[in-house]
Amino acid sequence: MAKAKVAVLISGRGSNLQSLIEAAAKEDYPAEITLVVSNRPKAAGLKRAAAAGIRQEVIDHKDFTSREDFDTAVTQCLKMAEVDYVCLAGFMRILTPEFVTEWRGRLINIHPSLLPAFRGLHVHERMIDAGVKVAGCTVHFVSSEMDAGPIIGQSAIPVVPGETAETLAGRILEREHELYPACLRLVAENRARLSGGTVSYDADVETTGVVHAPAP
Ligand code: GRF
Repeated sequence: MAKAKVAVLISGRGSNLQSLIEAAAKEDYPAEITLVVSNRPKAAGLKRAAAAGIRQEVIDHKDFTSREDFDTAVTQCLKMAEVDYVCLAGFMRILTPEFVTEWRGRLINIHPSLLPAFRGLHVHERMIDAGVKVAGCTVHFVSSEMDAGPIIGQSAIPVVPGETAETLAGRILEREHELYPACLRLVAENRARLSGGTVSYDADVETTGVVHAPAP
């Protein structure tokens, strides 16, 4: 079967991009990363794309007078590249409802908390301040609300004694790098898909150590 074409949208470091690139390099992976788009010309993740020989586009939000115009330019770029799915990976822009509607069911995000808890920014500090005992990360289909939308997979870790925002961020990031490729695999194989306001899974999708999906 032909591999699904995936664009990854980044703004910075690109470690999740790297995990997707590495997963997609495997022969049996159902998706290929064909395009990386950054809204920041200096995003470190662009170098990762270059090293992997993946086409990169910089669409600098500062060149646009409105959010709508920026999003339209991104959509045009994605359509020209004929991508099937769009993965947000540390993409620090709020998307317009039009963009979210255009890519509905094909637009995925990763967030470093167990959603719906701790949406937004400074997540690790806020979790430490709140004294949570369990943390983790979530991959979800994007809806028009920030860090919300039907959950595809989650991975949980305990918060350990002496934990700081930095140590927690590092340990969650390790899980992110497993969870995102695992969830993209399910979506690209159409074994997990948006169905109304939730995600439906093929009956053979089982809960694993990485993707905690509903039992069939
Ligand atoms: C990750 O923690 C991701 O969950 C969040 O932004 C961060 C991006 O990191 N949305 P990286 O650029 O993938 O290294």
